[in-house]
Amino acid sequence: MRISFTVNQQPHTVEVEPRVLLVDLLRDHINLTGTKVGCDSGQCGSCVILKDGISVKSCALLGVQADGAAITTIEGISPAGTMNPLQVAFQAAHAVQCGFCTPGMIISLTDLLVTIPHPTEHQIRAWLAGNLCRCTGYENVVRAVNAAQQIAASEAHFLPMSAMRHFYDSYVGVLNGSDLTALVERYSPDAVLTTFEGIVTGHEAIRSYFEDGRMGAENAIIATEKFIEFGDSIYTESSVRTAHGLAHTYHAFVVQDGLITHQFAGVK
Ligand code: FES
Ligand code: FES
Repeated sequence: MRISFTVNQQPHTVEVEPRVLLVDLLRDHINLTGTKVGCDSGQCGSCVILKDGISVKSCALLGVQADGAAITTIEGISPAGTMNPLQVAFQAAHAVQCGFCTPGMIISLTDLLVTIPHPTEHQIRAWLAGNLCRCTGYENVVRAVNAAQQIAASEAHFLPMSAMRHFYDSYVGVLNGSDLTALVERYSPDAVLTTFEGIVTGHEAIRSYFEDGRMGAENAIIATEKFIEFGDSIYTESSVRTAHGLAHTYHAFVVQDGLITHQFAGVK
């Protein structure tokens, strides 16, 4: 059968046999393997996705039942290269061990926080009755949900998507993608970059600064926990994966005519 649906806001039209499960359609046909298969029998919750905003077990649905639906998987729960407050809270509260159950937990809890914005501990535990975890014992998961609510309560974290936010996300994308040329092009020719290591001015110096081991897999911004903009300036706080472990950094950017003119960076 031919079906059309969106997955993470991207339209898809696929030929699928009527017997194929939705989880297999997502994993095997669309290559979104963040959704896990733990039991294949509707018990473990590893395969939970959002279907039209409602959390469902994708091993309990046929792929053809997604026809016309809007599907969100763990890959689409936050902008590429970033984590949302729930994901940040899971990391901060150590709510993950093997992590196999985590995509389903995050999706289920996303639905919970929309359905019940301020759940009690009992409501959190009851909601997770369909998500089995053999590692964490749920204590840290409950802590993470509470921490996520605190993060979300700060208005600094949920500014609507803006031109500045798009600029910043693009900056993170080229930084995390080790695209040195595209990164340098984000700066004005006489930009001033101030870090605790010193002051760097101009394209060539900025290129050398980033070439010197400050890009690549071990220097990726893995989450931006705080994003504030005012006029032509941005202030961010981020978690950065470094060769020495996780670091918490802050950045202030001045952006004029689409180019960074000043940047201040430091470690919290
Ligand atoms: S794989 Fe779907 S509930 Fe376990
Ligand atoms: S962290 Fe391993 S099953 Fe949940």
